[in-house]
Order: sequence, then structure tokens, then C-alpha cells
Amino acid sequence: MNKQKIKNKIKETNNSWFYTDIVKDHFFNPKNFLTDKEAKNYKADGVGIVGSSACGDVMKMWIRVKNNKIIDCKWQTFGCASALASTSVLSTMVIGMKLEDAKKITPQDIIKKLGGLPQIKIHCSVLGDQALRKAIEDYEGKKVK
Ligand code: FES
Repeated sequence: MNKQKIKNKIKETNNSWFYTDIVKDHFFNPKNFLTDKEAKNYKADGVGIVGSSACGDVMKMWIRVKNNKIIDCKWQTFGCASALASTSVLSTMVIGMKLEDAKKITPQDIIKKLGGLPQIKIHCSVLGDQALRKAIEDYEGKKVK
């Protein structure tokens, strides 16, 4: 599919109530999701928690860092399908990424990677993005101390 066709598809998806196959895959098979049991023993270098003012849902993200690169990223949410899919895809995007590059990821980058999200669900993609930023800030704050 060429760039224009992808843009048109995203625009079409944004104006509909339908989820792309990529969104469905990440929702039904979330990547890097952490269970409560796993979370108890997970040694993170940074943790971020955010809540959405739009819907009240909550996102928690854990990162492990080595040589300024994210070497692992885990998450949990009390959120909707779009939040799950957005954060799942985000977690796959950031593993192996330098912190400075991970900080530049935008909700639009996440939506693009998902092949689009319905307009009314755009705010759900912001949760993972903000939780990641908080986790990075947490890591950087610990490094300074
Ligand atoms: Fe709350 Fe999607 S409706 S994160």
C-alpha cells in the first residue's frame, strides 16, 4: 500500500467506529502485558502511572533501561480496547529505543502504527504515551539522586 492509500485508510478509520486488524490483534494478543503476579517481582528502573481526565481510566508502565536504551517495557491498564492496543503497540515500538527517541514518540505515531483509531478513541492512545514519559522521568529522577 502506498503512503497516500495508508493516509486515506487512516482518515477513513478515524471517521468510523471500526477497529483495524492491527488494533484487534493487539487487543486480543497484547504484547508485554504484565500480570499482577509478574508485577510483584518485576525489577523496573522506572515506573509511570497516569489517569485519563477524559474517561477516568488508568495506565501503568514499567521500563528497564541499560546504556540509555529501553531494554524492556511492561504495562497494565484499567482501560478500553483502544488503550490496550495503543499501549501494546507502543511497548513494541520502544524496546531497543534510546530514551531521547522514546521521549519524542507522539500519540500520532502510535495511531499510525495501529493503522488508525476511531476519532472518539484518540484520547486512549495518549495514556500509554504519557505513562511512558512518566516512567522515563522516574528513571531519570532516580539517576540524578
Ligand atoms: Fe478510557 Fe479508552 S475510553 S482509555
